Amino acid sequence: MPDQASTISSEVDLLYAFLVGMTLFFVGLIFLMVAIFAIRYRRRSSDEIPRPNFGSLRLEIVWSVIPLLISVGIFIWSASVFFDIQRVPANAMQVYGVGKQWMWKFQHPEGNREINELHVPAGRPVKITLTSEDVIHSFFVPAFRIKQDALPGRYTTTWFQATKPGTYHLFCAEYCGTQHSGMRGSVVVMEPAQYEAWLSGDASGGSMAARGEKLFNQLGCVTCHLPDGSGRCPSLVNVYGKSVKLITGEELVANDEYIRESVLHPNAKIVDAYQPIMPTYQGQVSEEGVLQLIAYIKSISSQVTEGTAAPGTTTPGTALPGATTPGAGTGTGTGTGPTPPGGAGSTNQSTPGGASAPNGINRSGQ
Ligand code: CUA
Repeated sequence: MPDQASTISSEVDLLYAFLVGMTLFFVGLIFLMVAIFAIRYRRRSSDEIPRPNFGSLRLEIVWSVIPLLISVGIFIWSASVFFDIQRVPANAMQVYGVGKQWMWKFQHPEGNREINELHVPAGRPVKITLTSEDVIHSFFVPAFRIKQDALPGRYTTTWFQATKPGTYHLFCAEYCGTQHSGMRGSVVVMEPAQYEAWLSGDASGGSMAARGEKLFNQLGCVTCHLPDGSGRCPSLVNVYGKSVKLITGEELVANDEYIRESVLHPNAKIVDAYQPIMPTYQGQVSEEGVLQLIAYIKSISSQVTEGTAAPGTTTPGTALPGATTPGAGTGTGTGTGPTPPGGAGSTNQSTPGGASAPNGINRSGQ
């Protein structure tokens, strides 16, 4: 058996051991009975005629009720383990993974990016949002007892809480082409302090939200999505996590999936009172880029700015947070482009601090 290195490993192992043990017990019992009956009820003479058997109600009840109780018990037990694996704790830190033939690419909200290696702290729940750039892959860490498919065009999530520092195998568990067996990596679990040091070790390029802002400017999104809503496309300030009304009258919540779809298939869902004029960005922006854009849009939503004085303090350098008060520096969205370091940097500083747990950008110590 692989190491037990996450909080759910022992739960999974116990269930597994029970299933194997129970199976062995019944296999043994059946073989034993076959042998006993073969001897005891063997034909003793060539003209022997057995006595007719009319069955036994008591026996039938026993062999129906016992398996029923056992299987219902297994169902309840495994369902509870399943829910433990599926339910992401609210205080989980966020990591993003993209599967690609044939590698795993990860990025942390702070901006650190890695390939075929994932660094995480011990003793802290980690939520991984997965997607794929091509075919179906599967994120599998045997020591954590988790396996989750990474699907093209969709976000899936899984979580774990590593219990001890070390390096653990990461596999792709879904046949994805010729190099599938080579699509391996490792999860490096570090002591929390070491992890913080590792995080700050590679600050180049800025946080995911800062990279997202850069992309937002580079791709020209900023020319239509003016922050005060006066542009040809809806303002994206305070959109994340909020309800959006579509031209069809339908309402939905602006979540990761919706934003991703709007970038890659802009005409799938048109916001009420706007024209379907946005071109697709499929092929121009990678899955990682889409995740960065989502992080940026999250960072300019009010759930991020509430609670702290951050917006006020960051206003001077940044056009967008300031623009939540209509009119203030709206036109400077593009204007700040040339001088992003100060502005972008301070946006990110404010982001983690004010972020509420579910939005996933929050990181302690930032
Ligand atoms: Cu990726 Cu198998």
